Amino acid sequence: MALVNRSLVTIDDLSNGEIEALFSLADEMTDSMSEQFTLCQGKVLASLFFEPSTRTRLSFETAMHRLGGSVVSVADAKATSLAKGESIADMARVVGSYADIIVIRHPWEGAAKVVADYAGVPVINAGDGGHEHPTQTLCDLYTIVKERQAIRGLRIALWGDLKHGRTVHSLAYALARFGATILFHPGQGLEMPEHVIRKLTTEYGGELRRFEAVDAGGGGLFPLDAIYMTPSQPHQLAMMPDVSVQVELEMGVDALYVTRLQQERLSDNADDEGVKESYPVVDKKLLNEKEFERTMVMHPLPRVGELAYDLDADPRSMYFKQAARGVPVRMALIALLLGVKEVSSPEEDDWKHDYPVYCGGLGVRCRNPKCVSIQDTEVKYIKHQFQIVGNQPLTLRCIYCEHEIYPPYIASSDWHDGTLESKKYHSANSHWARDIKPENLIAFDTRDEAESHGFKPSHFVRNNC
Ligand code: CP
Repeated sequence: MALVNRSLVTIDDLSNGEIEALFSLADEMTDSMSEQFTLCQGKVLASLFFEPSTRTRLSFETAMHRLGGSVVSVADAKATSLAKGESIADMARVVGSYADIIVIRHPWEGAAKVVADYAGVPVINAGDGGHEHPTQTLCDLYTIVKERQAIRGLRIALWGDLKHGRTVHSLAYALARFGATILFHPGQGLEMPEHVIRKLTTEYGGELRRFEAVDAGGGGLFPLDAIYMTPSQPHQLAMMPDVSVQVELEMGVDALYVTRLQQERLSDNADDEGVKESYPVVDKKLLNEKEFERTMVMHPLPRVGELAYDLDADPRSMYFKQAARGVPVRMALIALLLGVKEVSSPEEDDWKHDYPVYCGGLGVRCRNPKCVSIQDTEVKYIKHQFQIVGNQPLTLRCIYCEHEIYPPYIASSDWHDGTLESKKYHSANSHWARDIKPENLIAFDTRDEAESHGFKPSHFVRNNC
């Protein structure tokens, strides 16, 4: 499938075959860097960074320069008309009329999707709040493939702030798709969000296993907390029902993917002090344990204390290689999206799940305070839409930030014979969650909300069943 004119908002916008083809092109570009200098002549990349960045911004800009293109750049929202209250949709339309491709980093989750919806040119998500960072994942996967040749069957531990860290969300999806086993080691209160776990287990065939915490003090074992996930198709561990966490760890870990505490995404909460104090650190002592003998130490960087400097000279450390590989990987991506290079990748079964979409004209809104869809400047034009990812309980996934909501009441816009008596709302736990056609579904957060739109409670609500 051609990549020209497509956008990269989430890692699921690329198939596995397309990712592998992109890596082949990155290899080719690395081997002949000086020959790429005319590929994007006359093309302009707009680099819009509304959050701090060193690696992503500078590697994208370096990549475009090495391809012979030009860059226009914003690194401060206060220097744009967003500061005057302009919507990001309007900004996207305008910048899309100046530039051939847009790279955007923004603190709101789903912001890159809105830009992609309105710009009219390819858009690359360089990080949207705590949602995703797909090009970091390309650098991470490329590094793993370079060092280990393949991803399938590897055992990769994600470490640190799994709740707010966008890099680990994109990476977990990709690792599951490529058939790696994923071990989770979150900091206290920083577990992988439930909506990410749901996607890993329902869409990528993963099997979730929770373990009791292991005492790291006595045995020196990697202090794996609680969660273990492995794709079951195919995977030998699926046939080991009594496997213990110790057995798991004795098998070794291929990569330890360390992340910093995302301080900027913490709430102003007294508990945050405890989170900081107990944040897990990776150092030489930990890496001396047997299970880490051959472990690659990875980190998207920047680091702020969770990864000791005394590991930098260790041949297992990969983090500066990950950053350096950002240039050829992003050169390949820009060239493919602009259509100045083409690659062939095998036709694949659809890797994206197709869910019915709830277009919530009435009723519910996303409840994630960081979601682009509920921000004051965006709410006037945005289409509130959710994928219907489950019926029992009714589970709606926001199409922008992917957070889930579980509305307790539902109704049908097609209220039978059109008589007011049949204009009823029901408990979302009733059979109506299955029976109402997705295109007719209306979901409500409260009974008051349903009744304010003229719906009366059905006996399913009155009997609370
Ligand atoms: N890894 C990463 O996104 O780094 P920057 O924030 O410096 O771009």
